[in-house]
Amino acid sequence: EKGGFDHFMLKEIFEQPNVVKNTLMPRLPLDQDEILLDNIKLTQSDIEKFKQIYIVACGTASYTGLVGKYLIERVSRVPVISEIASEFRYREPILDENTLMIVVSQSGETADTLAALRMAKKAGAHVIGIVNAVGSTIAREANDVLYTWAGPEIAVASTKAYSAQLCAMYLISIKIAMELGKIDTNAFKALREELYALPDKIESILKQSHKIKALADQYKSSKNIFYIGRGLDYAVSMEGALKLKEIAYLHAEPYAAGELKHGPIALIEDSSLLVGLVGQEELFDKTVSNIKEVKARGAKVLAIALEGNEAIEKTADEVIYVPRTHWYLTSILLNIPQQIFAYYIAVGLGHDVDKPRNLAKSVTVE
Ligand code: M6R
Repeated sequence: EKGGFDHFMLKEIFEQPNVVKNTLMPRLPLDQDEILLDNIKLTQSDIEKFKQIYIVACGTASYTGLVGKYLIERVSRVPVISEIASEFRYREPILDENTLMIVVSQSGETADTLAALRMAKKAGAHVIGIVNAVGSTIAREANDVLYTWAGPEIAVASTKAYSAQLCAMYLISIKIAMELGKIDTNAFKALREELYALPDKIESILKQSHKIKALADQYKSSKNIFYIGRGLDYAVSMEGALKLKEIAYLHAEPYAAGELKHGPIALIEDSSLLVGLVGQEELFDKTVSNIKEVKARGAKVLAIALEGNEAIEKTADEVIYVPRTHWYLTSILLNIPQQIFAYYIAVGLGHDVDKPRNLAKSVTVE
C-alpha cells in the first residue's frame, strides 16, 4: 500500500507531480482563456462587491492562506487578512455581506476552521472552501467548494495536500484578478503555461532527493534551526519549520528575514542551522544580507534558491536549487526540498515519520 516507499509521507511527496496535474488541469482548458472553478457561481459583480477577504485555516493550511494574501493583495489590490482559525473565531472579526472568506482544510473537519466558517456565514459573508476530503463537513457547509483532488493523505505531516492547496489558491487568486481586470489574456496565458510546467519542475526537484538526504544526514544534529525568507519565501519558511517540528522533533523557527535583528539573532551560535529561502528575485540582495549577518555569528547556512542565482554560493555553505518559474508560483517549488529535508532528518533520527508523537491527522477538538 506504500507503493514501494518506506513511508506514506515519502510516497505522498513523490505523488506531487500527479496531484498538481489533477488539481490544475481540469480547471485550465487549453482551448479557453479562462479558469473553470467547478461549480463556483461567483460572477464578476459578486467579486467586485467584496471589500475584504479573509483566509482562515489551521497549521499547514494556514500557510496556504499567507501565500494567498501576498498574491491577492499584490495583484488584485483587495485587502486580505490571513488568519489562524483558533484566533479568528474569538476576536470578533469584522464580517458582513461584502466579505469573502476562503477557508482551507485538507480534512474538511478541523473544529476551529469549521467554527470560523459558521461565524462568517451567519454574518452574511460568502465562504469558499478549499478542501481535500470529498463530502466533509466544511465541503458541505461552505457556499462554494474547490476540491484539491490530492487523494487520501495518510501521513500526519501534510505534503501533497499542501501543494494541491497552493494550486487551488493560485487558481482562485488568478480568477479574482482576471475578474477585476488586473490580469489580461496575455498575462493569463503566460501564467497558464507556467502552471502546466509545474509537474515536470517538481519531478526535477524530486530527482535531487539523494543530495537532500545527504544534507539531512549532515545537519540532523543541529540544535536550533531557523528558516528565513521575505515575502512569499517567508510564507514558505513557515511550512519548512513546521515539518521539522512535527516529524523530526527539532526546534525550528520561521522568521521574516528582516525581523531577525530585532531579537532572535541573539540565539544564533555555532550549532545553529539557517535555512535561507531566496526565491524572490527583487528581494534577493536583502535576504542575502540577512543570511550574511547570521553566518557571521557562526551558523551553518543551507540556501534554497532559484537556478541561475549561483551568486548565493558565495554566502551559503550548501545550496539546493529549484527550477525557475513565474514569480507567482515560486512557493510550491521552494517547499518541495523542505519536505524531503524534514523527511530524511526524521528518518535519520529514527522517528515514526507517518505517526509522529502527540499528533492526530484530523484535529476535531477545539
Ligand atoms: O485538515 P486540515 O487541513 O484542516 O488540518 C489543519 C492542520 O491541522 C494540519 O495542516 C497540520 O498542521 C498538519 N499536521 C501539518 O503537517
